[in-house]
Amino acid sequence: MFDIKNLVRPNILVMKPYSSARDEFKGEASIFIDANENNLESLIPNQNFNRYPDPYQRKLKEKIASIKKVNLNQLFLGNGSDEAIDLLIRLVCKPGFDEVLTFSPTYGMYDVSSNLNDVVLRQIRLDENFQIQPEMLEDVIHTNTKIIFLCSPNNPTGNLLDSQSIESLLKMFYGLVVIDEAYIDFANQPSWINRLSEFPNLVVLQTFSKAWGLAALRLGMAFASPEIITFLNKIKPPYNISEATQLLALKAMEQADKLGGIVSEINQGRQYLQETLSKLTNVRKVYPSDANFVLVEVTNADKIYAYLLDKGIVVRNRTNQPGCYNCLRVTVGTQAENKKLIQALEAYSD
Ligand SMILES: Cc1ncc(COP(=O)(O)O)c(C=O)c1O
Repeated sequence: MFDIKNLVRPNILVMKPYSSARDEFKGEASIFIDANENNLESLIPNQNFNRYPDPYQRKLKEKIASIKKVNLNQLFLGNGSDEAIDLLIRLVCKPGFDEVLTFSPTYGMYDVSSNLNDVVLRQIRLDENFQIQPEMLEDVIHTNTKIIFLCSPNNPTGNLLDSQSIESLLKMFYGLVVIDEAYIDFANQPSWINRLSEFPNLVVLQTFSKAWGLAALRLGMAFASPEIITFLNKIKPPYNISEATQLLALKAMEQADKLGGIVSEINQGRQYLQETLSKLTNVRKVYPSDANFVLVEVTNADKIYAYLLDKGIVVRNRTNQPGCYNCLRVTVGTQAENKKLIQALEAYSD
C-alpha cells in the first residue's frame, strides 16, 4: 500500500513548520499588532496590501476547487507550478542520494530543480513519436528514484502522452508520479485530476500561466491526495501567493465562461500555423500538437532562428534537445503575429 509517509524525507516528517501570526490567531479581533506590518498607511490604499495575505488562500482555493470539481484538501497553490515542482522534489528526495526520472525531451525545470536540490535526474528517451514504449518501463524502477515527472501535453513536443503508458507507470511505481498538465486546456482529453481517487501516488500540476493568460501573476496548482497536500503546505514558504495574485486570480475566474472561446481561438491559430508551416519549403516536419505551440523541424534551426530574430520575431530554438535536432518551437500568437511569422519564413532562403 502506498503511504506518502514512507517517501517523505525523515527530517520533514519530524520538523515543525513555520507558524505565522495569522496561523495562530483564530477568532474575533479589531487590533492586529501581531505581524510587524504597517498599520498606518499603505502606498497603495484601500486594498489591504499592508497586511500579509492568507497563507492558505482559502477564498481562492474555494473558487478553484469548485471550477475543477475537487475537494479543497486536494488542492495546493504555488508561486507558479514551478514552485510545486521544486517543493515536490524537496519533499521526497534526499539531496546527494535520491533520483528523479523524466522522459526526454521535456520541460527544463525538472532538471533545474533537481540540480538545485542536488538530486540526480535520470532521463529515458521518448520514441520517435515522443511516446513511452512498454520496454522503457523496465528501466523505471530504481530504489533511489522517488519521482517520475510526466509532461502531458509535453513541452517542447506538444503531444499528449499515451494514457495506457501513464496508467502502467502509476500502477507499477512506488514513488510519486507527477503529471504536468500546464497545457491541458488546449488538449482534446480529460485531465488526470478526474482519476486522483484511483491513484494515491498521483500528483497533477496545472497553471494559470497558459490558457488563463495570467503568467505574470505566478499561480500554479497541484492536485493530489489530502495527505500529499498537507505535506506540501507544511514545507511551503508561509506567504507564497501574494494578495495581488489572490485578488486578481479571483477576478479572472469571475469570467471563467470566456475561457472556452479563448482556447478555441488559440487552437484555430494552431491549426493555421500547422497547415501553413507544413507547406513551406524550409519546413521538414510539423509535429502534431495538443498545446498552444507547435514543434517544427526546419532545414537549419540555428540559421532560421537567427534570421527570424533579425526580423524581430523570437521563437524557441530546441535543436539541442534530445530528438529535436533542427527543431524550433513556435507559440501560437495573434492572427497578425502568426501571419507575420509565415510571411517571414516564406521570404527566407538558405
Ligand atoms: C510543462 C510546463 N510546466 C510548468 C511550466 C511553468 O508554469 P508556471 O508559469 O505555472 O510556473 C511551464 C512553463 O512554460 C511548462 O511548459
